[in-house]
Amino acid sequence: MLTIVLTACGGSSQAATTDTQAAENSAPAVAEEQKETAEAAEQTEAQTEEAQETKQEEAAQETAAEPASEASAAAHSDVLVAYFSATGTTKGVAERIASVTGGDLYEILAAQPYTEADLNYNDNSSRSTSEQNDKSVRPEIGSDDISLEGYTTIYLGFPIWWGEEPRILDTFVEKYNFDGITVIPFCTSGSSGIGRSGSNMEELAGSGTWLQGERFSGGVSEEELKSWIEGLQ
Ligand SMILES: Cc1cc2nc3c(=O)[nH]c(=O)nc-3n(C[C@H](O)[C@H](O)[C@H](O)COP(=O)(O)O)c2cc1C
Repeated sequence: MLTIVLTACGGSSQAATTDTQAAENSAPAVAEEQKETAEAAEQTEAQTEEAQETKQEEAAQETAAEPASEASAAAHSDVLVAYFSATGTTKGVAERIASVTGGDLYEILAAQPYTEADLNYNDNSSRSTSEQNDKSVRPEIGSDDISLEGYTTIYLGFPIWWGEEPRILDTFVEKYNFDGITVIPFCTSGSSGIGRSGSNMEELAGSGTWLQGERFSGGVSEEELKSWIEGLQ
């Protein structure tokens, strides 16, 4: 708009050299026109700013009006896939279950991570062997606590250690309340089945509806997981 005004202004001053009268008349007219144009531009700008401010205020009010609980409930699925994985195999399966179900993922991490030496099942005194030999051990969880509010189904995954769930799963199930939640255990292993892991954890949890769990190999496909999940309903 400024370019147009300046161009128009240049044209008028050229004409003014040939006709002084016209120039005298037209100069204030152009100035007036310029002033009006500038005023109109200012007004439009002010109106636009005002409209934008109003929109922003309205948006802020809407956000403030939305209760925090509603916002967080809307943000997550009613399915949670919680898992512990020492070497990544169960993690892969958990991610595929989350992909099939649209569920949220929660990794149960050990506060003191398991080293390769800790996981050496050929060593009778390794950390994992000692923990599995003592049912009362409860390794500390290092991941942030999770609220189970709004979840109705939890897939609970782990590797098989010496025929059953690692003790950190016992820490997890004793820590949370599964009332109103269906818990579906799943595991990965070299070859062993899920064994008593599900019933051990159900007993320790003392809440929730526990379904019969399933053992998978690390390479299980999403299609295979999907048909397992469909078979659960
Ligand atoms: C300490 C320890 C004990 C294990 N015990 C068994 C077992 O009893 N039976 C079996 O088939 N696999 C056993 N495994 C193999 C794991 O179950 C298998 O590699 C699993 O897929 C690892 O999962 P992750 O990568 O999620 O930790 C054991 C592994 C470790 C580290």
